Amino acid sequence: MTMLSVQDLGVSIGPIAPLSGVSFQLERGEIIGIVGESGSGKSLTAMGIMGLLPLIGGQIDHGTVEFDGIELTGLSENEYRKLRGGRIGLITQNPMTSLDPLKKIGPQVDAVSRLHLGLDRAGAKARTVELLGDLRIPEPASIYHLYPHQMSGGMKQRIVIAMALGADPDLLIADEPTTALDVTVQAQIIRLLGDLVKQRDLSLVLITHDMSVVAQTCDKVMVMYAGTAVERGPVQDIFDNPKHPYTKALIGCIPHGLSETVRLKGIEGTVPGVAQYPSGCRFHPRCTIAEEVCTRNVPVFETGAKRAAACHFALEAAQ
Ligand SMILES: Nc1ncnc2c1ncn2[C@@H]1O[C@H](COP(=O)(O)OP(=O)(O)OP(=O)(O)O)[C@@H](O)[C@H]1O
Ligand code: SF4
Ligand SMILES: [Mg+2]
Repeated sequence: MTMLSVQDLGVSIGPIAPLSGVSFQLERGEIIGIVGESGSGKSLTAMGIMGLLPLIGGQIDHGTVEFDGIELTGLSENEYRKLRGGRIGLITQNPMTSLDPLKKIGPQVDAVSRLHLGLDRAGAKARTVELLGDLRIPEPASIYHLYPHQMSGGMKQRIVIAMALGADPDLLIADEPTTALDVTVQAQIIRLLGDLVKQRDLSLVLITHDMSVVAQTCDKVMVMYAGTAVERGPVQDIFDNPKHPYTKALIGCIPHGLSETVRLKGIEGTVPGVAQYPSGCRFHPRCTIAEEVCTRNVPVFETGAKRAAACHFALEAAQ
């Protein structure tokens, strides 16, 4: 069953058009990774789905976003508010944007199920303690009474995940949920999140700039570059046979082995800002196989197919 279907999403902020051509579909129980370097449009995609663009003076310009059969573009803020934190949970990068530093964490998590599920005080508390346990937080009944500053970064991020799960959502959107944490804790939390999604048969949009996170956690992936989608498909297919040169380069950046001396290959150059989006294929200034046509013609990104690659030479690139 399709939980989320995004078709040809485009976003404008005042006169600028930082995002266009984003299309993907997510089934119940699936995890999609949205991956790309900084400035590729991952967060704008998430904000578009969540109806949060007005916060930055932006709006959906074209395209559709369908959640469980409900068209979200054009919903009023009131209608969106019922979905956000309810059937759609959001996990942000910085726990302190979700947690109130002046309140104990337990009642903060309770507030979600009280508001969205209508639980009473005792019911909400019991649910929170159970959720904290599910998040493998030791001694959840005593942790319930702590303030955010009494917890480690990793623990705080688990609390944010508990809050996102508080209303029993169908869809979770996690925007770089672990970037602020150290690498070992990052891996633990991503694994935990992936396990919870599978156990509860939820759907997850996992935004990351890390291809190895995608490889370990996701069922499918959409690769983004300079405000547009460039490749999409099942994770195994994408890693076995990347069709877009940018995807290939990102995969080439994953360190192999654990040796400290391994050097990351990196991709030459940087992602252009909105004002400098190149003509034709936006990746052409960094692409090692670009030809003249790439500077003129925008490659098509198919909306419906399971696999898509926006590249004039996609097949050649796969060989
Ligand atoms: N409020 C804004 N006003 C103008 N441009 C914006 C705004 N927010 C984002 N952009 C631009 O849109 C493009 C995509 O930004 P976005 O934040 O979605 O990237 P991202 O992939 O989430 O990057 P990061 O990995 O750094 O979080 C960038 O060029 C960015 O500068
Ligand atoms: S369209 Fe051209 S420039 Fe763009 S990725 Fe393909 S080969 Fe490279
Ligand atoms: Mg971002």
